[in-house]
Amino acid sequence: MANENNTSDSQVDVGRVLTDSMVRQIRDLFVRYPNRQAVTLPALHIVHEELRHVPLQAVVEIAELLELTPADVQDALSFYGFFKQDKPHGRTRVWVCRSISCALRGSEEIAQHLCDRLGMQPGETTADNSVTLEVAECLGACDFAPCFLAGSRLHRNMTRESADRLLDELTTDGDRDSV
Ligand code: FES
Repeated sequence: MANENNTSDSQVDVGRVLTDSMVRQIRDLFVRYPNRQAVTLPALHIVHEELRHVPLQAVVEIAELLELTPADVQDALSFYGFFKQDKPHGRTRVWVCRSISCALRGSEEIAQHLCDRLGMQPGETTADNSVTLEVAECLGACDFAPCFLAGSRLHRNMTRESADRLLDELTTDGDRDSV
């Protein structure tokens, strides 16, 4: 994970936010795509995974690498609700599916229960930075509604009780499953 104290993965320049590693990973993609513009989305994912968000300065730097305007990159970023821009998300993003199958089986009530318990709204992050709670459209596992995605792990047939247990786990296990 990139941070100010990471000396082995030095930043490209003073004030820049893309690390050498991120720049390298993005450049490595050039040969795999028909043009640089096509690298926009994977580049955003690389930066988002490292920084847990894509600040405006990163948009400018990605645009330089891809020989695009910052507006081009920002357009792609803002099209997808997945990318955070204002500040990093918590160690684990918990996505609660709100599409029809999950909603009919109580996902909205469970999400509300979690919001009440945490004292926050969807999209917000706990004070200890452990969890960002999000709502998602269909996670592709409707047979097991209601579903949550916590980091990269799918949780099926959720109930209030299992959601509470998941939250307890994520808020006490540190970096176990950060995405
Ligand atoms: S509706 Fe929730 S996984 Fe499809």
